[in-house]
Parts: sequence; C-alpha cells; structure tokens
Amino acid sequence: MKFLVTGGAGFIGGNFLHMMVRKYPEDQYVCIDALTYAGNIETIEPIMKEKNFKFIHENICNREAVYQLFEIEKFDYVINFAAESHVDRSIDNPEIFLKTNILGTQVLLDACRKYGIKRYHQVSTDEVYGDLPLNRLDLLFNEETPLHASSPYSASKAAADLLVLAYYRTYKLPVTISRCSNNYGPYHFPEKLIPLMIQRALKNEQLPIYGNGQNVRDWLYVADHCDAIDLIVRKGRDGEIYNVGGHNEKSNLDVVKTILKLMKKPESLISFVKDRPGHDLRYAMDPTKIKTELGWKPKYDFDSGIKSTIQWNLEHQEWINHVESGEYRNWMKRYSPNN
Ligand SMILES: NC(=O)c1ccc[n+]([C@@H]2O[C@H](COP(=O)([O-])OP(=O)(O)OC[C@H]3O[C@@H](n4cnc5c(N)ncnc54)[C@H](O)[C@@H]3O)[C@@H](O)[C@H]2O)c1
Repeated sequence: MKFLVTGGAGFIGGNFLHMMVRKYPEDQYVCIDALTYAGNIETIEPIMKEKNFKFIHENICNREAVYQLFEIEKFDYVINFAAESHVDRSIDNPEIFLKTNILGTQVLLDACRKYGIKRYHQVSTDEVYGDLPLNRLDLLFNEETPLHASSPYSASKAAADLLVLAYYRTYKLPVTISRCSNNYGPYHFPEKLIPLMIQRALKNEQLPIYGNGQNVRDWLYVADHCDAIDLIVRKGRDGEIYNVGGHNEKSNLDVVKTILKLMKKPESLISFVKDRPGHDLRYAMDPTKIKTELGWKPKYDFDSGIKSTIQWNLEHQEWINHVESGEYRNWMKRYSPNN
C-alpha cells in the first residue's frame, strides 16, 4: 500500500510517520510538506533513510504539483495533517489559514477524485465544536455536536471538514475524519503551551498563562492519536467522523503546576497575562464511538504522558535549540534528497 502523508514535518504528522514507517515496512510512505515555520525537517531526519519513506518539499495548495505527484505515485491512502495550526497566529492573520486549511484540502480532495484512492483521511480537531461551559462537567462533544467554531483557525478546520463530507456525499469519495483533543508529546513546536512551559521552567523564566488559567483542555498523548488515525484509516467506515480523546481534562493552570512540580521548580515562576480574544473555555471529548466501533484505547494517561514529554524535552535540547534559534530553517543546506 502507498500512503501520502501531508504535513509530516510537523508535530503530529512527524510522530505518525515515525510510527508507521517502522510498524509497516511493507507499505510505502511519501510525505509532502511546505516547511512553513512549523515544519521541521529535523523531526523526520531519523526516518529519512528508511527504504519505505520519501520526503518531497511541496505545498498542498499547488494543484499542478499535487496532480503530478498523484499521477506518478498512485497513492492508495491520503492522510492530511498539513495545516496552519496555531490559534494565536490565526487571530493575527487569518488569510493563510483559509488558504492552506480549506483550499489546500480541496486540492487534495480533487486529486483523490481525479486519480482514485482507497481512503482520504482528514485530521481535524475538537475545536470545530467551539467550547463548553466550565460549570457543566457532564457535557462532552460527540460526533453529532453542532459545529460552532470560535477562532479563524477552528472555522477553517470546520469548513474543511464540511468540504470533506460534501465530497463523500456528492462524489462518493471514500473519506473519514478524526477530531482529536489537544495533543502533547515529542517534537511539539515550543510555541504551544506544554513545550513552551517546560522550556521556560528549565531556564527559570516566567511562565505566562492567559487570563486566570481556568480554561480547560482535554489532553491526549500524541502516540495515542497516531494509533487512532492508523485504526480509522484501516478499519473506519467511509463518510464517518471519529472523535478522539482520553478523558484527561485539565485547566491550563493545573497543567503548568504539574510541570513545575515534576521539574522541581517554584510556582512563583507563574505569571498571568492578558487573555486571548475569544478564548474557548473548555473542550471535552466523548470517544465512545472509536472505542466501541474500532476498539481504540489510549495507552497513556496524563501522568505518564507528561513525565515522558518532559523527559523527551530534556533529552532533545538540540532539536529545541535549533527551533528557538531558527537554525532549523537552514534545512536546505543540510538536507539533500540524495544523501
Ligand atoms: N496539535 C494539536 O493539539 C492538534 C489537535 C487536534 C488536531 N490537530 C490537527 O492535526 C494536524 C497537525 O497538527 P500539528 O499540531 O502537527 O501542526 P503543526 O503546525 O505542528 O504542523 C503542520 C505541518 O503542516 C505543514 N504545512 C503547513 N501548510 C502547508 C501547506 N500549505 N502545504 C504543505 N504543508 C503545509 C507545516 O510545514 C507543518 O510541518 C492539523 O491539521 C491540526 O489541525 C492538531
């Protein structure tokens, strides 16, 4: 089987490729990534020389190049991780989010229609559902929850989901969608909450938290998300959405306090800063469907996942330093497809 994985130089796509390339040596994996600021070739360097892996520097919005690639490679499966993914950046500059997350998805769907595939999988997010009140812990997002996006990022992801479902209904394209809660783990870009806080705590710098820190996220260790996608792509039903989450709801303040405790740093490093506009209060997923239908079960709870994440960050300071210094952007000088 041949897989196209887009956005594989990013956080989740990179973790997914590490897992799949080694787990299924008989399958072929082609990764395309535009290498935006969030893409880091160093993330996939460990698998670059594997025989069943190939990297191509390309933008999913480039229709001509994408069509050419489909024509040559004849993919069986397409898994779309490529996206602009940072909510704060979407508030500052929504346009690129609409281009990549919606129009880029459309290019991939059109290519799938034109050249034929066994399955197109869209990697989506719980943020398409908007937020839940802090005082109704009984409420969870299920697959029937109406879309109610809050930020330009989540609105662009919701639009892409609707497009994917429209291609299923209108053109009978075999598609699936996963909507996952917040991920954390190895190769997480240090602009996101958990890696940022670990890095700042390590340097004894202030840890800035939006508002009063009571906003709640449902955290899932990235390897569990990757397992879920693998299952959905192979065993999920066409046209279906699967919510993915591990019932690990934590307030941002609790997350930061846990990191400080495990790193033996004082809580006095915490500082509260002006809240993000439109900041979602609480996300919480109901993963009953993927558990009962596909037998998915997370292997990590928050305690084991956060310990493993802190350990990874401590052991991979070079990867982090290259991101922080911008050195990772010099990939072209170090990477040649022939070496
Ligand atoms: N991070 C999370 O907690 C989370 C949770 C649920 C869902 N998701 C979804 O999972 C996917 C991956 O998220 P992530 O956190 O790994 O994001 P990321 O920002 O770390 O990685 C995105 C990757 O996509 C690439 N990319 C961006 N624009 C591109 C384009 N036009 N063409 C080709 N490549 C492009 C970037 O270079 C980068 O390598 C996204 O679709 C996101 O919406 C993320």
